[in-house]
Amino acid sequence: MNQTISIRGKRVALTGACGFLGLSLARALVNEGASVIALDILSPTEGKARLAAANADATYFQCDITDESALHEAADQIKEKFTGIDVLINNAAFNPRVEDGGNNGITFENYPIEKWEKELRVNLTGIMLVCRTLYPLMGSGASIINIASIYGVVAPDQRIYPAGFEKPAVYGASKAAVLNITKYLATLWGKNGVRVNAIVFGGFENDQSPEFVKRYSEKTPLGRMAKPEEASGIVIFLASDASSYATGSIVTVDGGFTAW
Ligand SMILES: NC(=O)c1ccc[n+]([C@@H]2O[C@H](COP(=O)([O-])OP(=O)(O)OC[C@H]3O[C@@H](n4cnc5c(N)ncnc54)[C@H](O)[C@@H]3O)[C@@H](O)[C@H]2O)c1
Repeated sequence: MNQTISIRGKRVALTGACGFLGLSLARALVNEGASVIALDILSPTEGKARLAAANADATYFQCDITDESALHEAADQIKEKFTGIDVLINNAAFNPRVEDGGNNGITFENYPIEKWEKELRVNLTGIMLVCRTLYPLMGSGASIINIASIYGVVAPDQRIYPAGFEKPAVYGASKAAVLNITKYLATLWGKNGVRVNAIVFGGFENDQSPEFVKRYSEKTPLGRMAKPEEASGIVIFLASDASSYATGSIVTVDGGFTAW
């Protein structure tokens, strides 16, 4: 059994591939010799342009992860082109950015129920649909990696966010659920040799205000936010056969944010 950390030649499906973290991951995976199957809701023109601008030589499929028939169509196309997949990274999510002004003053008390359900559908139901649609394309040794967040483990400290921005409960609630579905699927699919793990990431630097970065950093034992390129190491390890006995695990990469 190969225990070196290599993903050379692996077929890696990555959802939300054209977002902030997705592009960074796509580039890193391609650089490590993987065939990256990029899935995102963006139009093919925009999706491909973003991947090209990020120097990520991936094959793009437009797909809304909340749309089961679109997922089946994508699965058929992936099967035709790649025969199967070795790794699935569930990265797509609705993640309101503090730097965009976020949720425009919407608070827990007045959160529109349609908005709550729509976001839950992307962040949780989307993962369920992607997993069960792409599972038939996987064989023994395949690895599923679910991208979670510190806010699936602890509540956000709203005091570090700018006035008027509230990090929504639906984000953390959906990410907590991602941790549970990770364990559920690890136990369900372990008998077929498919591994399922989750990564709890802390906040990444992404043009937030210096005041926010300072407040966030003060809450972090390593004293800083993560750089996007720091996401790939753990993803590559969990995707590789070097992690062949790891399943149902929740790996935390947060600079120590949840350690105190
Ligand atoms: N950015 C951070 O600081 C941070 C921290 C911890 C965890 N995370 C997690 O990392 C992942 C990526 O976050 P990000 O910051 O890159 O977000 P992002 O908003 O930049 O990217 C998300 C991507 O998902 C796509 N997407 C959204 N809805 C979709 C749908 N229905 N179907 C298909 N694609 C869809 C978007 O088009 C976008 O390209 C998320 O799971 C997020 O929760 C991010």
